[in-house]
Parts: sequence; structure tokens; C-alpha cells
Amino acid sequence: MRAAAVRHLKTDGSAASQSEIDAAVESLKALKIEAGAVARRLQAAVSTTSGGGSEAFRQAVVNTLERRLFYIPSFKIYRGVAGLYDYGPPGCAVKSNVLAFWRQHFVLEEGMLEVDCPCVTPEVVLKASGHVDKFTDLMVKDEKTGTCYRADHLLKDHCKEKLEKDLTLPAEKAAEMKHVLAVLDDLSSEELGAKIKEYGITAPDTKNPLSDPYPFNLMFQTSIGPSGLLPGYMRPETAQGIFVNFKDLYYYNGNKLPFAAAQIGQAFRNEISPRQGLLRVREFTLAEIEHFVDPEDKAHPKFSDVASLEFLMFPREAQLGGEQARKIILGEAVSKGTVNNETLGYFIGRVYLFLAHLGIDKDRLRFRQHLPNEMAHYAADCWDAEIECSYGWIECVGIADRSAYDLRAHTDKSGVQLVAHEKFSEPREVEKLVITPSKKDLGLAFKASQKMVTEALEAMTEKEALDMKAALESKGEAEFQVCTLGKTVAINKKMVSISMVKKKEHQRVFTPSVIEPSFGIGRIIYCLFEHSFYTRPSKAEDEQLNVFRFPPLVAPIKCTVFPLVKIPKFEDVAKQIAKSLTAAGISHIIDITGTSIGKRYARTDEIGVPFAVTVDSTSTVTIHGQSTWADVMWRFPTHSVTANDDAADQN
Ligand code: ATP
Ligand code: GLY
Repeated sequence: MRAAAVRHLKTDGSAASQSEIDAAVESLKALKIEAGAVARRLQAAVSTTSGGGSEAFRQAVVNTLERRLFYIPSFKIYRGVAGLYDYGPPGCAVKSNVLAFWRQHFVLEEGMLEVDCPCVTPEVVLKASGHVDKFTDLMVKDEKTGTCYRADHLLKDHCKEKLEKDLTLPAEKAAEMKHVLAVLDDLSSEELGAKIKEYGITAPDTKNPLSDPYPFNLMFQTSIGPSGLLPGYMRPETAQGIFVNFKDLYYYNGNKLPFAAAQIGQAFRNEISPRQGLLRVREFTLAEIEHFVDPEDKAHPKFSDVASLEFLMFPREAQLGGEQARKIILGEAVSKGTVNNETLGYFIGRVYLFLAHLGIDKDRLRFRQHLPNEMAHYAADCWDAEIECSYGWIECVGIADRSAYDLRAHTDKSGVQLVAHEKFSEPREVEKLVITPSKKDLGLAFKASQKMVTEALEAMTEKEALDMKAALESKGEAEFQVCTLGKTVAINKKMVSISMVKKKEHQRVFTPSVIEPSFGIGRIIYCLFEHSFYTRPSKAEDEQLNVFRFPPLVAPIKCTVFPLVKIPKFEDVAKQIAKSLTAAGISHIIDITGTSIGKRYARTDEIGVPFAVTVDSTSTVTIHGQSTWADVMWRFPTHSVTANDDAADQN
């Protein structure tokens, strides 16, 4: 059965006229985006079949992707390098469609300020951000061969395998392993090491004993310029490029908050043992948004646009309580405080819409909240958009409230104030703490260390300063820990004066908070490939046909033009149509090979072409589309059309 939208074009000669072709092109241009209910039914069927045979399903997807050059292992003729992949022609087209939609859905919709910063980054930037010291994964080594593994991955694999395959596993051991899986990201180096020992986990390839876990920094190091004196790294995220530009971007935005900046670019992570194909690679495209907001007001003016959305959420308590993700209305999640604030909630909603629109199956998409220790210490709240594929639930978008951490860190390191101002309509009286170190007295007491003691005194929090003031007043002396010196010193009354003074202020100066949605484009695309893939029997050839059912929005090629049979007259019309499609910027292929029309349809199915134009002897141009016929009628009510209204098997 082929349910087609058939459009008869009246002709005065043997070939369709230019205006008719133009009309056909126009309708193709407009026929876009939503796959209908049928597509979803089919996708659901695929996910159930993929459940049991997920390996076989993945193999079928990957074979099709590699055969049709969606992607290619990089440097293949030299046997490749783990974790590096090229996108081939249809892969590039899908990626560019996804990025174009990302720009439309986020950058245009929110008026974001897009920037494009270098990948090569001087060390000082990544030192300030904490990446030089802390961007690590825990690694274990095969003690005999030196092969490296990610410690948490070995523990995860072990627990999963035991739970799935060991029928003699006692109930309490099973419960413990389930708990380990739930809190895996939360485990310290010591806890991971202890579990690996306790479960007797050895190197997967050799069964040799493993070392204790130790941190491995994931950044690729380089040096900038020929002298070798300026160390640098390939950026592990694009975010830092935005933070260091905050001052200029804030000015560009008229010194107003909130605003967001965005960046799409390559990120580099020297993953310890990349596996899972496109999901864990060593160079990948990130699309990141840094939304700067007043920490005292994280309301979002457009939150009501997304408040009624309902989708799978997996709050912290549910994870720790061994429950499943469940459907929650976003507005309720925010009002109950499950999601920390409206701005974070707004972005969760927008990310949901983005992924659903691309064609990600809504039933295999959930938002998982980070467990307390999984979050960076400065983060207020984090949610990952996770998509289920044959590898399990995969983090594809991280949405984090990073508070003021990054801007503060760069302010401290660079000395440039990355702050925002709120001007008061009336001056306000405020009590301010004033700490005045006496450099002379500190110099006499601490000599060369004077500067460090002074800086530490100036950096005291209000509570520390008030405690010191009380101690100085009662005892005349106070103990003071100077971290940069690594010791405690005695401070007396002469060395510092601490007072609260009343001041009139005309403005409030503060460091904005940052809400960051960070999209791994390759992961999203891979999940999209799996969610769009299915096999169907081919009557003609008695074999399985592989099909990608891409929404037109992401399809690498929007349309194929077929002459029904290989004769010059049809070819001429087909070429004219192709020319008009090019002029309209619609990607297409024209298939004038002599193969049977069935075979040619199958070829286009395999790369997920959603529309086809067939030229036949009655000078009819037939457009096969993925929309249901009802969609087409709704969009083009004025055209005269006839159709077979069975949408079950469209091309
Ligand atoms: P994971 O825990 O899977 O290593 P992460 O928590 O380190 O990921 P983030 O630092 O939050 O990830 O990075 C933001 C996004 O970048 C992720 O949501 C993911 O989509 C993507 N990403 C991270 N690492 C990789 C990788 N090695 N290959 C492909 N995409 C990645
Ligand atoms: N910007 C992605 C991250 O938090 O690492």
C-alpha cells in the first residue's frame, strides 16, 4: 500500500508547465516538520522490538548509517582512532538541519547573543574555571598491561550484568547493586575503589587485577606559539568563551539583565576509553547557552508558555527511593520546588519542545535531576535531558544552574569585574562591613607574607569578620587561618579595623547567576537515528528494508525526483523540477537510473527522504509525503487534489 498525496497538474502540452512546477515546489516548501500519528505508531513498534534484541537493532542501524555514509570512523584507511568520527554527506546534512533548528528555536526565539570563540584556549582561562585542577574522570589501570578503564563504567557494567544474568544473586545483594547504580555518579574515588575490590572486578580483557582509581584530566594539552612558553588546551566546553566575554556582551545588551549568549562549536575531551560509537567521542559539537540572570529574581516572563507541558521527569527523591521516572506537569514541578526556579524550568520546557520537534520519541525522553554530590559544589540545581536508545538512557543535554561561580572565578583571576548593576530609583541606606587592614603593622609582623595576610583579611565573609571583631574586642587578639600560607596567624587590634558603617547607595552591584543548557549535538543526532529507524518487509525482494523515517525538518534530503520510467521526456520534466527545487533551496536528488521504481523508492527510504515527486506519462506529478492526508488538506485547502487517504505506508 502506498498512501500518496496525488496532485494532478493540468497541462497544455506533454510536460508540466513552469507555473505548475512552481506550485508543486511551493507546496513542498510548505509541507514540513510534523510526522503524523502513523509515524509515532511505527516508532512505538520499533522501540518494542528493539527492547529484546537491542544489539541486533543497533547493528542494523549502525550498518545502515555506515553504509550510507551518515558517518565514517575517522582516518579509517589507517585503521582509525577510537572516539573520532567523520560525518559523511547525509550526516552533514542532518547535523546542519539540527543546528539550523537550534538557532531558530533558541537564538532567534530568545534574541540570544551568539558568539564564536577559538577552540585553542590559554591555560589561565581553564585554570580560573577549575578545569585544569578538576576536569577529571576516575581511571583504573590493568596492573599488568597498563590498559586504562573508567572506574565508574567498570562498576556499572559489573552491576548491570549481575542483575541481568546472575539468577542466583541473593535479593539483598541485588538491592545493593541497584542502589550502587542509582548513586554511581555520586561515589568518591575511595568508595569506587572499595566497591571494585569488594565485587572482585578485574580488567575486562585480561582478568588481571586493577589499580586503585585515580583522577585523569580529560583535556588535550598543547602550547601556543613556537616558544612553548604559553601553555594551552583544546577547550572541553564552549561556555568559557562566553564567560570571558561577559562584560562586552552585557554592554552590548544595553547593560540589562536577563540576557543569554549562545555558542556552537567543537569541544575536546580525551575520554579514557571511548565506546558506544557516536555517544562518547573525543571531539564533538556542543551547542551551549549561558543565560545570565539576577540571582535574586529567577522568575521568567515566558514561563507560562511552557508551564502546562507534561513529560517524564525523574526527581532526585524518586531516584534515591528506587522509583521510576513519571509524567509531571512542569508548572507543578516549579511551584513545588522540585525544579529550583522558573528560569531553569523554562529552559527544561524549551529543551523538551526542541527534542520532541526534532523527532525524539517523547516516551523515551526524560529529565533527570542530579543527585547532590553529582552536581558541582557551586551548582544550585541540574537536570539532564536523557534519551533512551539501545545503549540505555543517555545524557544528551545538561541543564544547570551554575550560580555565580564562573563569573566570580574569572573576576578573581583576571581582575576585571564581571558584574551587573541595578540602579535604584531612590538612593538606599545600607549597612556595610568595612575591613581596613593596616599594611604597616601587618608588614612589621609578617614581612614577606604581608600581602597574603592582607588579601585574606579583605576576603573575609561578613560572619568571619564579625567573629574576628568580637574576638579582638574581648581578647585583643584573634586566630586567623590564611589558606594561601597554609597556616594560622595571630591578628591583633592594630593590624586591622573592622566596622559596620551606614552608607547611601545608588545602585546594587552583583554577580549574575548563570543557567546553562548544554547540548551534545552528536548524541542527539545518534538517538534521533535510532528513534527514526525501522525495518519493514519488502514484498518485491523478500527481504527486510531499512528505513529512516525522519521528520522533514531533519531529513538530509527532503525530496527525490523520479521519472517513472527512463525516457527522455520524463527526464526533462524531472530536471526542470530539480532546478526549481535548487532555486528554492530544497535539498533533493534526482534518480534517473533505469532501476525499477520500487528499488528506487527503497533506496530513498534508506536515507529517510520524506517526499518524492514522480513524473509519469499523464504528465502527472505525484508527491509522496510523510504528512497525513488530513495535514495536507489542512495546509492547502484551495488546491484541487485527489488522494488515497490511507496513510499507513507513506514514503
Ligand atoms: P558524561 O557524564 O556522559 O561524560 P558529562 O556530564 O561530562 O557527560 P557535560 O560536561 O555536562 O557532560 O557536557 C555537556 C553535554 O556534552 C552532554 O550532555 C553530552 O551531550 C555532551 N558530551 C559530553 N561528553 C561527550 C562525549 N565524550 N562525546 C559526545 N558528547 C559528549
Ligand atoms: N558546559 C558543560 C559542562 O558543564 O561541562
